Amino acid sequence: MTSEATNPPCVWITGASSGIGAALSRELAARGYVVAATARNESALGKLAESVTNIHAFAGDTTDRAGMATLIEAIDCELGPIDIAVLNAGIYLPTNFPEFDAAIFDRSFAVNLGGTVNCLAPLVPLMSARRAGRIAIVSSVAGYGGLPTSAAYGATKAALFNLGESLAMDVAEYGVKISMIAPGFVKTPATDVNTFPMPFIISAEDAARRIANGLEKGQAHISFPKRFSFLLRLINLLPRGVYTRLVGGATSRN
Ligand SMILES: NC(=O)c1ccc[n+]([C@@H]2O[C@H](COP(=O)([O-])OP(=O)(O)OC[C@H]3O[C@@H](n4cnc5c(N)ncnc54)[C@H](OP(=O)(O)O)[C@@H]3O)[C@@H](O)[C@H]2O)c1
Repeated sequence: MTSEATNPPCVWITGASSGIGAALSRELAARGYVVAATARNESALGKLAESVTNIHAFAGDTTDRAGMATLIEAIDCELGPIDIAVLNAGIYLPTNFPEFDAAIFDRSFAVNLGGTVNCLAPLVPLMSARRAGRIAIVSSVAGYGGLPTSAAYGATKAALFNLGESLAMDVAEYGVKISMIAPGFVKTPATDVNTFPMPFIISAEDAARRIANGLEKGQAHISFPKRFSFLLRLINLLPRGVYTRLVGGATSRN
Protein backbone atom coordinates (compact mmCIF):
# COMPACT_ATOMS: atom_id res chain seq x y z
CA MET A 1 0.00 0.00 0.00
CA THR A 2 1.48 3.37 -0.94
CA SER A 3 -0.81 5.99 0.63
CA GLU A 4 0.08 7.49 3.99
CA ALA A 5 -3.50 8.61 4.60
CA THR A 6 -5.43 7.14 7.54
CA ASN A 7 -8.14 5.85 5.24
CA PRO A 8 -7.24 2.92 3.01
CA PRO A 9 -6.18 4.11 -0.44
CA CYS A 10 -8.88 4.09 -3.10
CA VAL A 11 -8.28 2.52 -6.50
CA TRP A 12 -10.61 2.75 -9.50
CA ILE A 13 -10.36 -0.09 -11.99
CA THR A 14 -12.17 -0.13 -15.35
CA GLY A 15 -12.84 -3.39 -17.16
CA ALA A 16 -13.27 -5.06 -13.79
CA SER A 17 -16.03 -7.53 -14.69
CA SER A 18 -13.66 -10.20 -16.01
CA GLY A 19 -10.07 -11.20 -16.79
CA ILE A 20 -7.22 -8.99 -15.64
CA GLY A 21 -9.47 -6.25 -14.19
CA ALA A 22 -11.44 -8.67 -12.00
CA ALA A 23 -8.25 -10.39 -10.80
CA LEU A 24 -6.60 -7.03 -10.07
CA SER A 25 -9.66 -5.89 -8.12
CA ARG A 26 -9.40 -8.99 -5.91
CA GLU A 27 -5.61 -8.66 -5.55
CA LEU A 28 -5.72 -5.00 -4.50
CA ALA A 29 -8.69 -5.55 -2.18
CA ALA A 30 -6.70 -8.34 -0.49
CA ARG A 31 -3.82 -5.87 -0.07
CA GLY A 32 -6.13 -3.47 1.80
CA TYR A 33 -7.23 -1.06 -0.93
CA VAL A 34 -10.80 0.10 -1.34
CA VAL A 35 -11.68 -0.81 -4.92
CA ALA A 36 -14.23 0.89 -7.17
CA ALA A 37 -14.92 -1.60 -9.97
CA THR A 38 -16.32 -0.45 -13.33
CA ALA A 39 -17.58 -2.31 -16.42
CA ARG A 40 -20.87 -2.56 -18.31
CA ASN A 41 -21.90 -6.00 -17.01
CA GLU A 42 -23.76 -5.11 -13.81
CA SER A 43 -24.45 -8.70 -12.85
CA ALA A 44 -20.76 -9.74 -13.08
CA LEU A 45 -19.74 -6.62 -11.15
CA GLY A 46 -22.40 -7.32 -8.52
CA LYS A 47 -21.07 -10.85 -7.98
CA LEU A 48 -17.52 -9.52 -7.66
CA ALA A 49 -18.56 -6.90 -5.10
CA GLU A 50 -20.63 -9.44 -3.14
CA SER A 51 -17.69 -11.84 -2.92
CA VAL A 52 -15.17 -9.30 -1.54
CA THR A 53 -15.93 -6.70 1.16
CA ASN A 54 -13.58 -3.99 -0.15
CA ILE A 55 -14.88 -4.05 -3.73
CA HIS A 56 -17.67 -1.66 -4.73
CA ALA A 57 -19.48 -1.88 -8.06
CA PHE A 58 -19.83 1.29 -10.17
CA ALA A 59 -21.25 0.11 -13.48
CA GLY A 60 -20.53 2.21 -16.54
CA ASP A 61 -19.54 2.27 -20.18
CA THR A 62 -16.19 3.99 -20.81
CA THR A 63 -17.36 5.14 -24.26
CA ASP A 64 -19.90 7.37 -22.48
CA ARG A 65 -17.89 10.55 -21.80
CA ALA A 66 -20.47 12.31 -19.64
CA GLY A 67 -21.19 9.04 -17.83
CA MET A 68 -17.51 8.68 -16.87
CA ALA A 69 -17.41 12.20 -15.42
CA THR A 70 -20.49 11.47 -13.29
CA LEU A 71 -19.14 8.09 -12.22
CA ILE A 72 -15.79 9.50 -11.09
CA GLU A 73 -17.58 12.16 -9.08
CA ALA A 74 -19.71 9.45 -7.41
CA ILE A 75 -16.67 7.28 -6.55
CA ASP A 76 -14.80 10.27 -5.15
CA CYS A 77 -17.79 11.23 -3.06
CA GLU A 78 -18.74 7.75 -1.78
CA LEU A 79 -15.33 6.08 -1.34
CA GLY A 80 -12.97 9.02 -0.94
CA PRO A 81 -10.36 10.55 -3.24
CA ILE A 82 -9.22 8.22 -6.01
CA ASP A 83 -5.53 7.57 -5.31
CA ILE A 84 -4.94 5.22 -8.24
CA ALA A 85 -6.94 4.73 -11.45
CA VAL A 86 -6.26 1.67 -13.58
CA LEU A 87 -7.70 2.29 -17.06
CA ASN A 88 -7.92 -1.32 -18.16
CA ALA A 89 -11.21 -1.62 -20.11
CA GLY A 90 -10.45 -2.85 -23.59
CA ILE A 91 -11.49 -5.13 -26.40
CA TYR A 92 -9.49 -7.34 -28.74
CA LEU A 93 -11.01 -7.62 -32.22
CA PRO A 94 -8.69 -9.44 -34.62
CA THR A 95 -8.59 -8.32 -38.24
CA ASN A 96 -9.13 -10.84 -41.00
CA PHE A 97 -7.82 -9.77 -44.41
CA PRO A 98 -8.29 -9.43 -47.40
CA GLU A 99 -11.78 -8.48 -46.21
CA PHE A 100 -11.39 -5.01 -44.60
CA ASP A 101 -13.98 -4.45 -41.91
CA ALA A 102 -13.69 -0.77 -40.95
CA ALA A 103 -16.16 -1.35 -38.11
CA ILE A 104 -13.50 -3.38 -36.26
CA PHE A 105 -11.26 -0.32 -36.34
CA ASP A 106 -14.06 2.06 -35.29
CA ARG A 107 -15.04 -0.08 -32.30
CA SER A 108 -11.43 -0.69 -31.22
CA PHE A 109 -10.61 3.02 -31.40
CA ALA A 110 -13.84 3.94 -29.56
CA VAL A 111 -13.30 1.56 -26.62
CA ASN A 112 -9.54 1.21 -26.25
CA LEU A 113 -8.58 4.77 -27.11
CA GLY A 114 -11.72 6.89 -26.80
CA GLY A 115 -12.79 5.09 -23.62
CA THR A 116 -9.42 5.79 -22.02
CA VAL A 117 -9.61 9.46 -23.01
CA ASN A 118 -13.12 9.68 -21.51
CA CYS A 119 -11.72 8.47 -18.18
CA LEU A 120 -8.69 10.76 -18.34
CA ALA A 121 -10.80 13.85 -19.08
CA PRO A 122 -12.24 14.16 -15.55
CA LEU A 123 -9.36 12.38 -13.76
CA VAL A 124 -6.44 14.56 -14.85
CA PRO A 125 -7.90 17.89 -13.61
CA LEU A 126 -9.14 16.22 -10.41
CA MET A 127 -5.78 14.70 -9.52
CA SER A 128 -3.86 17.77 -10.72
CA ALA A 129 -5.90 20.00 -8.39
CA ARG A 130 -4.97 17.68 -5.49
CA ARG A 131 -1.39 17.42 -6.72
CA ALA A 132 -1.60 13.67 -6.11
CA GLY A 133 -2.60 10.47 -7.84
CA ARG A 134 -1.42 7.77 -10.20
CA ILE A 135 -3.08 6.82 -13.46
CA ALA A 136 -2.17 3.42 -14.91
CA ILE A 137 -3.05 2.83 -18.55
CA VAL A 138 -3.31 -0.76 -19.75
CA SER A 139 -1.70 -1.03 -23.16
CA SER A 140 -0.11 -4.26 -24.42
CA VAL A 141 3.14 -5.64 -25.78
CA ALA A 142 1.17 -5.52 -29.06
CA GLY A 143 1.69 -1.75 -28.88
CA TYR A 144 5.48 -2.10 -29.28
CA GLY A 145 5.23 -2.95 -32.98
CA GLY A 146 2.99 -4.47 -35.64
CA LEU A 147 1.76 -8.05 -35.24
CA PRO A 148 -0.42 -10.23 -37.47
CA THR A 149 -4.23 -9.79 -36.98
CA SER A 150 -3.48 -6.73 -34.78
CA ALA A 151 -3.89 -3.84 -37.22
CA ALA A 152 -6.81 -2.42 -35.22
CA TYR A 153 -5.96 -3.62 -31.70
CA GLY A 154 -2.22 -2.92 -31.99
CA ALA A 155 -2.86 0.56 -33.37
CA THR A 156 -4.90 1.46 -30.28
CA LYS A 157 -2.28 0.02 -27.92
CA ALA A 158 0.59 1.85 -29.67
CA ALA A 159 -1.46 5.05 -29.47
CA LEU A 160 -1.98 4.49 -25.74
CA PHE A 161 1.79 4.28 -25.24
CA ASN A 162 2.31 7.60 -27.01
CA LEU A 163 -0.62 9.17 -25.19
CA GLY A 164 0.53 7.95 -21.77
CA GLU A 165 4.17 8.85 -22.21
CA SER A 166 3.32 12.33 -23.48
CA LEU A 167 0.81 12.83 -20.67
CA ALA A 168 3.38 11.73 -18.07
CA MET A 169 5.66 14.59 -19.16
CA ASP A 170 2.83 17.12 -19.09
CA VAL A 171 1.29 16.23 -15.73
CA ALA A 172 4.47 15.56 -13.73
CA GLU A 173 4.61 19.19 -12.59
CA TYR A 174 1.08 18.81 -11.13
CA GLY A 175 2.10 15.84 -8.98
CA VAL A 176 0.24 13.26 -11.09
CA LYS A 177 2.07 10.07 -12.05
CA ILE A 178 1.43 7.85 -15.05
CA SER A 179 2.20 4.13 -15.30
CA MET A 180 2.04 2.25 -18.57
CA ILE A 181 1.11 -1.42 -18.30
CA ALA A 182 2.07 -3.78 -21.12
CA PRO A 183 1.00 -7.38 -20.54
CA GLY A 184 2.04 -10.23 -22.79
CA PHE A 185 -0.45 -13.10 -23.21
CA VAL A 186 -2.79 -13.51 -20.23
CA LYS A 187 -5.43 -16.24 -20.04
CA THR A 188 -8.78 -14.38 -20.02
CA PRO A 189 -12.03 -14.53 -22.01
CA ALA A 190 -10.34 -12.16 -24.51
CA THR A 191 -7.55 -14.63 -25.34
CA ASP A 192 -9.67 -17.78 -24.98
CA VAL A 193 -10.83 -17.17 -28.57
CA ASN A 194 -7.27 -17.35 -29.99
CA THR A 195 -6.48 -20.44 -32.00
CA PHE A 196 -2.74 -19.71 -32.39
CA PRO A 197 -0.03 -20.60 -29.85
CA MET A 198 0.40 -17.94 -27.14
CA PRO A 199 3.99 -18.08 -25.86
CA PHE A 200 4.68 -17.44 -22.15
CA ILE A 201 0.95 -17.15 -21.35
CA ILE A 202 0.20 -16.51 -17.66
CA SER A 203 -2.96 -16.55 -15.53
CA ALA A 204 -5.00 -13.41 -14.79
CA GLU A 205 -4.11 -13.83 -11.09
CA ASP A 206 -0.39 -13.85 -11.90
CA ALA A 207 -0.84 -10.76 -14.11
CA ALA A 208 -2.74 -9.03 -11.29
CA ARG A 209 0.07 -9.72 -8.79
CA ARG A 210 2.65 -8.32 -11.20
CA ILE A 211 0.57 -5.19 -11.85
CA ALA A 212 -0.08 -4.64 -8.12
CA ASN A 213 3.65 -5.03 -7.36
CA GLY A 214 4.55 -2.57 -10.11
CA LEU A 215 1.99 -0.03 -8.90
CA GLU A 216 3.21 -0.30 -5.31
CA LYS A 217 6.79 0.29 -6.48
CA GLY A 218 5.62 3.32 -8.47
CA GLN A 219 6.94 1.89 -11.75
CA ALA A 220 6.39 3.98 -14.89
CA HIS A 221 6.44 0.91 -17.14
CA ILE A 222 5.02 -2.41 -15.95
CA SER A 223 5.56 -5.14 -18.53
CA PHE A 224 5.43 -8.90 -18.17
CA PRO A 225 6.28 -11.73 -18.52
CA LYS A 226 9.79 -10.26 -18.49
CA ARG A 227 11.39 -12.60 -21.04
CA PHE A 228 8.60 -12.19 -23.61
CA SER A 229 8.43 -8.43 -23.17
CA PHE A 230 12.23 -8.10 -23.39
CA LEU A 231 12.32 -10.25 -26.54
CA LEU A 232 9.64 -8.16 -28.24
CA ARG A 233 11.34 -4.90 -27.31
CA LEU A 234 14.65 -6.28 -28.57
CA ILE A 235 13.31 -7.31 -32.00
CA ASN A 236 11.62 -3.93 -32.23
CA LEU A 237 15.10 -2.39 -32.31
CA LEU A 238 15.76 -4.12 -35.64
CA PRO A 239 15.42 -2.18 -38.92
CA ARG A 240 11.65 -2.11 -39.65
CA GLY A 241 11.93 -4.17 -42.83
CA VAL A 242 13.83 -6.89 -40.97
CA TYR A 243 11.31 -6.75 -38.11
CA THR A 244 8.26 -7.24 -40.36
CA ARG A 245 9.92 -10.07 -42.32
CA LEU A 246 10.99 -11.79 -39.09
CA VAL A 247 7.66 -11.52 -37.24
CA GLY A 248 5.59 -12.15 -40.38
CA GLY A 249 7.66 -15.24 -41.20
CA ALA A 250 7.62 -16.60 -37.66
CA THR A 251 3.83 -16.30 -37.43
CA SER A 252 2.96 -17.21 -41.04
CA ARG A 253 0.16 -19.75 -41.47
CA ASN A 254 1.49 -20.89 -44.89
N1 LIG B 1 -5.43 -10.97 -22.04
C1 LIG B 1 -4.30 -10.58 -22.64
O1 LIG B 1 -3.50 -11.42 -23.11
C2 LIG B 1 -3.95 -9.11 -22.72
C3 LIG B 1 -2.66 -8.78 -23.16
C4 LIG B 1 -2.33 -7.44 -23.24
C5 LIG B 1 -3.22 -6.45 -22.88
N2 LIG B 1 -4.47 -6.82 -22.45
C6 LIG B 1 -5.38 -5.74 -22.10
O2 LIG B 1 -5.86 -5.95 -20.79
C7 LIG B 1 -7.16 -5.35 -20.66
C8 LIG B 1 -8.12 -6.37 -20.06
O3 LIG B 1 -8.23 -7.43 -20.98
P1 LIG B 1 -8.65 -8.92 -20.55
O4 LIG B 1 -7.75 -9.83 -21.27
O5 LIG B 1 -8.80 -9.01 -19.08
O6 LIG B 1 -10.06 -9.02 -21.31
P2 LIG B 1 -11.53 -9.34 -20.80
O7 LIG B 1 -11.52 -10.47 -19.85
O8 LIG B 1 -12.33 -9.45 -22.05
O9 LIG B 1 -11.92 -8.03 -20.01
C9 LIG B 1 -12.20 -6.82 -20.66
C10 LIG B 1 -12.91 -5.93 -19.69
O10 LIG B 1 -13.17 -4.67 -20.32
C11 LIG B 1 -14.54 -4.34 -20.08
N3 LIG B 1 -15.05 -3.47 -21.14
C12 LIG B 1 -15.07 -3.69 -22.47
N4 LIG B 1 -15.66 -2.67 -23.09
C13 LIG B 1 -16.02 -1.79 -22.13
C14 LIG B 1 -16.68 -0.54 -22.15
N5 LIG B 1 -17.10 0.03 -23.28
N6 LIG B 1 -16.89 0.10 -20.97
C15 LIG B 1 -16.50 -0.47 -19.80
N7 LIG B 1 -15.86 -1.64 -19.73
C16 LIG B 1 -15.64 -2.29 -20.88
C17 LIG B 1 -15.26 -5.68 -20.03
O11 LIG B 1 -16.45 -5.59 -19.27
P3 LIG B 1 -17.93 -5.43 -19.81
O12 LIG B 1 -18.05 -6.26 -21.05
O13 LIG B 1 -18.76 -5.90 -18.65
O14 LIG B 1 -18.10 -3.98 -20.08
C18 LIG B 1 -14.24 -6.50 -19.25
O15 LIG B 1 -14.39 -6.30 -17.87
C19 LIG B 1 -7.56 -4.88 -22.06
O16 LIG B 1 -7.28 -3.51 -22.20
C20 LIG B 1 -6.64 -5.70 -22.96
O17 LIG B 1 -6.40 -5.07 -24.19
C21 LIG B 1 -4.86 -8.12 -22.35
